[in-house]
Amino acid sequence: MANVVVVGAQWGDEGKGKIVDWLSERADVICRFQGGHNAGHTLVIDRAVFKLHALPSGVVRGGKLSVIGNGVVLDPWNLLQEIDTITGQGVEITPETLMIAENTPLILPFHGELDRAREEAASTGTKIGTTGRGIGPCYEDKVGRRAIRVADLADDATLEARVDRALQHHDPLRKGLGVEPIDRAALIAQLKEIAPSILKYAGPVWKVLNEKRKAGNRILFEGAQGALLDIDFGTYPFVTSSNVIAGQAATGVGIGPGAIDYVLGIVKAYTTRVGEGPFPTELDDADGQRLGERGHEFGTTTGRKRRCGWFDACLVRQTCATSGVNGISLTKLDVLDGFETLKICVGYDLDGQRLDYLPTAADQQARCTPIYEEMPGWSESTEGARSWADLPANAIKYVKRVEELIECPVALLSTSPEREDTILVTDPFAD
Ligand code: GDP
Ligand code: IMO
Ligand code: MG
Repeated sequence: MANVVVVGAQWGDEGKGKIVDWLSERADVICRFQGGHNAGHTLVIDRAVFKLHALPSGVVRGGKLSVIGNGVVLDPWNLLQEIDTITGQGVEITPETLMIAENTPLILPFHGELDRAREEAASTGTKIGTTGRGIGPCYEDKVGRRAIRVADLADDATLEARVDRALQHHDPLRKGLGVEPIDRAALIAQLKEIAPSILKYAGPVWKVLNEKRKAGNRILFEGAQGALLDIDFGTYPFVTSSNVIAGQAATGVGIGPGAIDYVLGIVKAYTTRVGEGPFPTELDDADGQRLGERGHEFGTTTGRKRRCGWFDACLVRQTCATSGVNGISLTKLDVLDGFETLKICVGYDLDGQRLDYLPTAADQQARCTPIYEEMPGWSESTEGARSWADLPANAIKYVKRVEELIECPVALLSTSPEREDTILVTDPFAD
């Protein structure tokens, strides 16, 4: 039985939510394995819009198990709110349909405060443009061995000791930033109050998933962010604080790497980015504005305007390599309808030298200028196309050229936000 990992192959917001929802019909279990509520995944089903942040995009399909793995950082208050919202939209979420790994670190209010205080204090050039959700500070606590994890909520004495350990680290930091100390009693009371509501979903995810795998269940792993925001392989330091690439799927839930049979990269037909950092093909002109307007490029989580630019084949070839992508889902092809000419970045000029990959050093990344190839656009509409036969010849040529340049085949093509406006070329779950 095939297990599939879905990863973003650019800077996030490639349309992972839509594709994970579409694929979840074929899966038994859907797992989030990294990131937190910095993610914003939008699903449109018969015009009803669902916006998900920490919950896996499989939750809207009944009868599936959704899993939040240990690789995620979880804000328990935000999760309970999200469960309320989604339940209000008619989706049933119970301990039978949602499981949270007991070893998942919790994002606490002081993580968000620290994240925002640091961003405010940062000077131009050092600001990351984070979502302000406390993601970085929580991952820092995890590797610093002072995080409070889901399992700690089960025992009052353990919880209080863990809070004391966290305060020992955070209060001096806050003092340096001019922020008042943490109210210990209030934090402990808040955590005790939500403990039962979170613990009812908690369990040994690694064990359940390994059993499900042995029983022949199909597992779908849903990535958040995109490979260019990966802590190791992204445009450091303008990245998120977790590994985003496909290898993280195994460690983020506790299953062996051999469990991954297929990696599906989600690729937008052009490029967007939210927050600071290098973006070689960024457009600051009418074409960029047109991409943003036609693509409704505003962040699902923060509402920020996304920066827009041409498709960068160099970057996607690179991210397909670091994630071992077997096939891609090309999304938002319809947004390119009506452009007379389309440009694709096929290399970079760095100080007069041609490169076919983005270098690692931040200053070199910032100096890379794109080398473009031009292709004729198409005037026909591809919106809502559900078969190749519905696509104009020039759209097909564009897709074929993308495949050649990134050295990876298209498995799925998406032509609107709606679940069913999807063309299947190769089924990632096929044995
Ligand atoms: P994610 O973070 O990767 O899940 O992506 P987001 O949901 O943040 O952003 C993608 C946006 O594009 C959402 O509003 C989707 O509804 C929308 N979308 C997804 N696929 C398509 C598509 O093929 N065409 C168009 N026009 N919109 C799409
Ligand atoms: P989805 O899953 C786009 C970006 C932020 C910022 C950087 C660090 O919807 O694709 P963080 O709050 O993670 O410390 O911010 O990462 N970022 C995203 N950009 N889509 C996302 O998620 C993102 N999650 C984080 O804008 O530049
Ligand atoms: Mg998003």
